[in-house]
Amino acid sequence: MEKTFSMIKPDGIQRGLVGEILQRFEKKGIKIAAMKFMMISRELAEKHYTAHKGKVFYDDLIRFITSSPVLAMVFEGEDVINIVRKLAGATSPEAALPGTVRGDYSLDVEYNLIHASDSKESAEREISLFFREEEIINYELIT
Ligand code: CMP
Repeated sequence: MEKTFSMIKPDGIQRGLVGEILQRFEKKGIKIAAMKFMMISRELAEKHYTAHKGKVFYDDLIRFITSSPVLAMVFEGEDVINIVRKLAGATSPEAALPGTVRGDYSLDVEYNLIHASDSKESAEREISLFFREEEIINYELIT
């Protein structure tokens, strides 16, 4: 079964949107396999955002993501990478549609509330950066 990495970023925590965001995934029927409320170290941030190193927004992004806690999560299910990205919405605020997390709650390309892996390779890499294997729970959803 496919897994993806997602996290509610510092702006989502600061704005008190954790429940609202999580509810969308739960109501959709997406299975939570792991969850961790944590601070991201500079080292972890640099690994996670290595693809953006050198971009104009890189330093601000690292500062932002390490500024206060995040909720790191692993979701599991068929086509879950795609589905979670759809629910998160597009990165740029003008493209993020109403009904998505970003479309409904963010006007800013940087403070965009949520991260969601963009491919199978990114998902595997990001999950292993944030979680040890034993932290990912293997169980059945009864519904
Ligand atoms: P995320 O999906 O976590 O992946 C990379 C992050 O970089 C993105 O969300 C935004 O938070 C940030 N980002 C992407 N493009 C820009 C930009 N043009 N200016 C500032 N931040 C950006």
